[in-house]
Amino acid sequence: MNPMRSLLLAGSRNAWLQRQATQRRFVKLAVRRFMPGETVDEALLAAGEQNKLGIAVTLTHLGENLSDRSEADAVLAHYQTTLQRIRAAGIRGEVSVKPTQLGLDIDAELCTRHMRTLTEAARVHGSRLWIDMEGTDYTDATLKLYRALRETHANVGVCLQAYLRRTRADLESLLPLRPAIRIVKGAYAEPPEKAFPDKRDVDDNFHWMVQQLWSPEARGNGTWATIGTHDRALISELELMAKRMGVGARDYEYAMLYGIQRSEQLRLVKAGRNVRVLISYGAHWFPWYMRRLAERPANLLFVARSMFAS
Ligand code: FDA
Repeated sequence: MNPMRSLLLAGSRNAWLQRQATQRRFVKLAVRRFMPGETVDEALLAAGEQNKLGIAVTLTHLGENLSDRSEADAVLAHYQTTLQRIRAAGIRGEVSVKPTQLGLDIDAELCTRHMRTLTEAARVHGSRLWIDMEGTDYTDATLKLYRALRETHANVGVCLQAYLRRTRADLESLLPLRPAIRIVKGAYAEPPEKAFPDKRDVDDNFHWMVQQLWSPEARGNGTWATIGTHDRALISELELMAKRMGVGARDYEYAMLYGIQRSEQLRLVKAGRNVRVLISYGAHWFPWYMRRLAERPANLLFVARSMFAS
């Protein structure tokens, strides 16, 4: 792994750095590039603006690895209200949740109960609940959670990471469930025994996964693919693959993060593709923001610029 990426990912788990960074105005300014604000009001406002551009949204309230039941209960209540507000505002939007934000570290049963309550609320609001995929300590538990929810609900999707060696087998085992899958490359620090260090292997896996989700059988039985990437070269290759496989533009969607590759988002909308942006908000942005810096260490320049501008 690139040493700067490793350093930034290690930093994402450092409490001292977190305290320092979250108190600095210039860091908050830099974070703004990828986050419309800390409040749900700001996220909903940005969501409305994205919808006007023809872009759907997924909202996610930042936070992870909660250790207190009452916090997990509060997160559940927050998302229930957010789903109501999305519907009341007529926003084309879904929510995406991290299992450890709903209590996975505390009690897996509690997490499943909360996720099921939210999936049901999403169903009532006519949307899908997405489950984020965290580091490999949580892969098995997250897939178990997905299987349990999929037994009672069709409107639930899970993220799979193309950088993991295990993902092929995971996807194969999920396919009979007619799943909704968001494919991403993967954002955590993982050792080479678990994650491909070479980008070419990650891209190959990504292609293979899309191909499975786009097979005539999968498309025919309601399996859904969300392609979560900003990688223009990969997108061009997938567009060629869609043509070869006869996959219609409405049969899948692209998803990107708010503020990243905006011109590509608009280009895809213009080309008639389904596009969605994931809008993150909330006060607990530090580990999430460090992962964004690790994806593109050049983003550190924005932090430096904000320091001199503030
Ligand atoms: P890659 O990293 O190769 O980047 C391609 C190009 O995109 C770069 O050259 C750069 O131009 C641009 N780019 C990418 N990241 C950037 C950044 N931070 N700032 C500026 N430019 C950037 N991961 C995970 O482990 N679990 C999850 O649940 C999710 N969920 C998720 C949802 C959605 C909608 C997206 C888009 C991504 C995720 N991710 C995720 C993150 C994902 O794993 C991955 O880290 C990022 O998408 C970056 O990978 P790319 O595919 O964009 O390619």
